[in-house]
Amino acid sequence: MIDTTEIQPNAAAGFRVEHRTPPERLDVLSREILQLKEELNAVILAHNYQVPEIQDLADYVGDSLGLSRQAAETDAAVIVFCGVHFMAETAKILSPKKTVLLPDRDAGCSLEESCPPDKLRALQATNPNFYTIAYVNCSAEVKALSDVICTSGNAKKIVEAAPADRDLLFVPDENLGAWVTEQTARPMTLWQGDCYVHVEWTHENVTRIRREHPDAPLVAHPECTKAVRMLADEVCSTEKMVNFCRDSRAKAVIIATEVGMLHRLQKECPDKQFIPAPTEKCVCNECRFMKMNTLEKLHDCMANRTPEVTLDDTIIERARQPIERMLEISAR
Ligand code: 13P
Ligand code: SF4
Repeated sequence: MIDTTEIQPNAAAGFRVEHRTPPERLDVLSREILQLKEELNAVILAHNYQVPEIQDLADYVGDSLGLSRQAAETDAAVIVFCGVHFMAETAKILSPKKTVLLPDRDAGCSLEESCPPDKLRALQATNPNFYTIAYVNCSAEVKALSDVICTSGNAKKIVEAAPADRDLLFVPDENLGAWVTEQTARPMTLWQGDCYVHVEWTHENVTRIRREHPDAPLVAHPECTKAVRMLADEVCSTEKMVNFCRDSRAKAVIIATEVGMLHRLQKECPDKQFIPAPTEKCVCNECRFMKMNTLEKLHDCMANRTPEVTLDDTIIERARQPIERMLEISAR
């Protein structure tokens, strides 16, 4: 991470996301990974926050919604999931007969941690009329306790489709939940969880970078706080950020989400300049969980077929229904 005290006012404008793998290892590892992919009949799925070298050799790079769709549709025997644990679990739930590999078993998520299944069960017991909508950033067990799942890419649509006579309970991200309530006017009980990365941006810091780049629109992820979302020209999922930036006539865009996104944006829109919104601590806010996956670990997990993501059959069966409900509503 870069200390903001060392950053000159406009230095962030030339920001690029760097490779982590030493150049002498990059070619060898990439070649071997592609070879292993053939041998295993595998597909490599990567989230938009993964390190550049993983994004560059993945078969598909996208947001949680796109990754779920890919996991449900692939013909490959093995899904190598370069993302965090709940995403790999979702792939396993949608394709239970396939082997799902995750380069680092400890790649978790602060939102998932904030919502233990026992606590959710206890809250649900207080109101039998609750209809539970779970943001996909939660454990398989929490999904199994929910009526429907959503991602940042379809949350509005999922909430709009919820039965009108039920009391909505939204878990575990209170910021995403509050953003959806603002758009749908549907009151919801919100679980008090947040993404430790996205709550780092403040109104003050984001206002400062906007003043430095008055012509650059600001795009923010809905996991940001309201104080930041209210400054944004667009609030959307990581995949929709790509569409917004492609369609925008602006030459520079300020991005308030995990810094890995900038690699994807630079590839998709090479003529545009992307400016990471700074926080108090740094200019390149990183998710420590997403960054646990490295090219070396990707190589080793394919060579050794471990760590593998496995789940209890009962959990798979229960969690599958709300995820399939989401995919069905999302496709309407
Ligand atoms: P997206 O589905 O928008 O990519 O978000 C996933 C995530 O973990 C955001 O922090
Ligand atoms: Fe979880 Fe936040 Fe990391 Fe996304 S960025 S995986 S919400 S901790």
